[in-house]
Amino acid sequence: MRTQIAAANWKMNLTLQQGEALLDAIIAQPHSLNANQQAVFAVPFPYLAMAQQKLAGKQNVFVAAQNCYSKKNGAYTGETSVEMLQSLGIQYVVLGHSERREYFHESNQFLAEKVNICLEYNIRPIFCCGEPLSIREANTQNAFVAKQLEESLYHLSAEQLQQVVIAYEPIWAIGTGKTASSAQAQEMHAFIRSQLAGKYGTAVADSISILYGGSVKAANAVDIFGQPDVDGGLVGGASLVADEFVAIINALKK
Ligand code: 13P
Repeated sequence: MRTQIAAANWKMNLTLQQGEALLDAIIAQPHSLNANQQAVFAVPFPYLAMAQQKLAGKQNVFVAAQNCYSKKNGAYTGETSVEMLQSLGIQYVVLGHSERREYFHESNQFLAEKVNICLEYNIRPIFCCGEPLSIREANTQNAFVAKQLEESLYHLSAEQLQQVVIAYEPIWAIGTGKTASSAQAQEMHAFIRSQLAGKYGTAVADSISILYGGSVKAANAVDIFGQPDVDGGLVGGASLVADEFVAIINALKK
């Protein structure tokens, strides 16, 4: 079975003290992660070391960065390199979140460079894709997402692609309380997998975890994660509430 992942994306929220208290509250609650399940915490850069320390030794629990820069090092004031993340022991980086695409103008081509440098340093990208409302209303979401995958990922070898986790996040469902129905999520996830199969073959496509993101909560996680091509979630708002996120971890398919 594919790896099932509950990933928290704190975005630009919480103070250090609030972040520590949240992780403490999550760790304190009973949650069950099977061998094929993972919990990932994408915390703000200043909290990466704290989260690494707090979660050290926890089975199948990982800390992620929410971004990185595409260059190895040098005069790029304010940016964070993948080598820096690697030196902290970070194993995942969220790339191409719609907020970065929209507010920071990250293109598919720029994201391809970030994917490359992550893989060079053995850090696994959680690559986000997903369409805005206007594209969904025009019913052209498949072509839109296919282009995102093609331009940022299809230069990779099959072996490299297998290090990538894909997160489908329809922009109209992010932070809006408006979740894609589990049928809509399944439909797009199956489409993404079929695209990957067309390019890399069925065995590779079947091995890749595809997460759903967009207003996932404890109340809808079992339904969404229960879909055959949904391998967990990338969770914003509900990941800031300990009880909610623990319930979301426990909603992963067994
Ligand atoms: P919400 O869960 O707050 O809708 O955010 C989803 C998201 O953007 C996760 O990356």
